[in-house]
Amino acid sequence: MVSLSGDSVYPHDVLTVLFCLLTVSQAYVNVALNKPAYQQYSGSGDKYDASNAVDGHKSDLSGGGGQCAISDRRQTATWWVNLTTIHSIHHITIYFRTNNKPWGPSNWRTKYFLGFSVYVSNTTDRLQGTLCYKDDNFTLDTIPAVFTTTCPVHGQFVIYYNERLPGVTYPDYYSNYVHSGLCEVEVYGCPATGYFGSNCSVPCPDVNCQYCHIETGTCQGCKPGYKGHRCEITCERGTYGAGCKETCGHCRDVNQCSINNGTCLTGCNAAFKGDLCKTACDKGSYGYDCKETCGHCRDRYQCSNINGSCLTGCDPGYQGDLCKTSCDRGSYGSECNETCGHCRDVDHCSNINGTCLTGCDADYQGDLCKTHCPVGYFGQDCSETCINSYTCDGCNDVSGSCDYGCRPGWIGYFCQKRIGSEGGMSTTCQNRNMT
Ligand SMILES: *[C@@H]1O[C@H](CO)[C@@H](O)[C@H](O)[C@H]1NC(C)=O
Ligand SMILES: *[C@@H]1O[C@H](CO)[C@@H](O)[C@H](O)[C@H]1NC(C)=O
Ligand SMILES: *[C@@H]1O[C@H](CO)[C@@H](O)[C@H](O)[C@H]1NC(C)=O
Ligand SMILES: *[C@@H]1O[C@H](CO)[C@@H](O)[C@H](O)[C@H]1NC(C)=O
Ligand SMILES: *[C@@H]1O[C@H](CO)[C@@H](O)[C@H](O)[C@H]1NC(C)=O
Repeated sequence: MVSLSGDSVYPHDVLTVLFCLLTVSQAYVNVALNKPAYQQYSGSGDKYDASNAVDGHKSDLSGGGGQCAISDRRQTATWWVNLTTIHSIHHITIYFRTNNKPWGPSNWRTKYFLGFSVYVSNTTDRLQGTLCYKDDNFTLDTIPAVFTTTCPVHGQFVIYYNERLPGVTYPDYYSNYVHSGLCEVEVYGCPATGYFGSNCSVPCPDVNCQYCHIETGTCQGCKPGYKGHRCEITCERGTYGAGCKETCGHCRDVNQCSINNGTCLTGCNAAFKGDLCKTACDKGSYGYDCKETCGHCRDRYQCSNINGSCLTGCDPGYQGDLCKTSCDRGSYGSECNETCGHCRDVDHCSNINGTCLTGCDADYQGDLCKTHCPVGYFGQDCSETCINSYTCDGCNDVSGSCDYGCRPGWIGYFCQKRIGSEGGMSTTCQNRNMT
């Protein structure tokens, strides 16, 4: 082996290279450590949980040690770790379950791993990802107990998969069924995207590149808002996001749609809201950014969310396209078609139902002041009464005088005198309280 002692016969630059190789192997970090993991046909209990393969423990490679992910034996075995975001990966190392026994033909667990494959994907579907490794050559003698594959790609999920499908012929040293049996899966890569190199410290050479090859720096994916092999092309007007594949919403100014995330920087067109201006106004609101509220539309929600015009007319008491204007003075009701009654103050006639809010003019009664006082009564609140409708034949409801004369046997301005009598009844028109 190479000696690094001071008397080394190796030239200095060889030592430097060796030193760099040593740092390389230490620079990438295990980005799978303690990330969420899953396995199909999970056995019962924490002892076999999928997360055991990313817990950092690999001192006990037995089934009972609680450090391995072990699923039930079936036709397929799937295990994955969710790196939670897309990571730049360099290599993946897998520690198979050996039960702490010598590996190889003598270990009856070896056969369960033959034929396995390893994928990196951006989804939990391995077939949408990149196949890093598929074993079609290992035997019980050659499969290693600790397997490493270099896979310099970007992805969020690392998936271990194996199968024994019916109708497929496998080598006779393969098991009949498979299970996961993974004691540790280490995914070495960079903790952040946008960098490459053995230290993950060199920014991707192309400024708008987000995912560059971990070793060479060649761009493999642009930042949102850019495209092209070197991410040199800005998204066209009206598009944004990863690969410029998204379409801007209803921005007030499409030039102000962020190519990065689609936010409309100067707000939305009429009828839309939200950062992206992709959400229609709620019912009952309209206009730019949905900031206006519908008027007194007949159906409160039937207001154009562009300009607020009421589509089915106004509620009683309101007029205009927006139904935000009260009826003109002296009118009320549906389409302002009704005329107020004899309100004491026409400015206090309800625009909605015509009620005279401060009472009626003289000689009128009722909420609407459209009803004449009953015969024999007159004046404010119909509280005046003719002196005596028994003696008076048709009392003037304004003056109280007996305009049509007295009943037979009675005379006087108020018909207050009995013919032939001296005194008689009271000579004044009585006030009568209507309450
Ligand atoms: C992967 O992790 C991310 C971040 O925690 C989470 O939002 C997402 O739902 C996870 N996906 C799956 C399939 O578990
Ligand atoms: C995951 O997505 C990134 C960004 O779009 C892309 O560069 C990468 O190739 C994808 N990875 C896989 C395995 O498809
Ligand atoms: C298959 O395995 C044999 C024996 O280990 C090895 O010599 C050979 O190179 C391998 N072939 C492939 C294609 O990996
Ligand atoms: C890695 O980091 C070391 C120490 O910070 C630095 O000397 C070296 O140049 C870096 N290597 C690369 C490839 O960035
Ligand atoms: C969207 O991008 C713009 C700049 O283009 C930024 O100001 C804004 O904060 C971003 N919004 C979100 C939700 O990330």
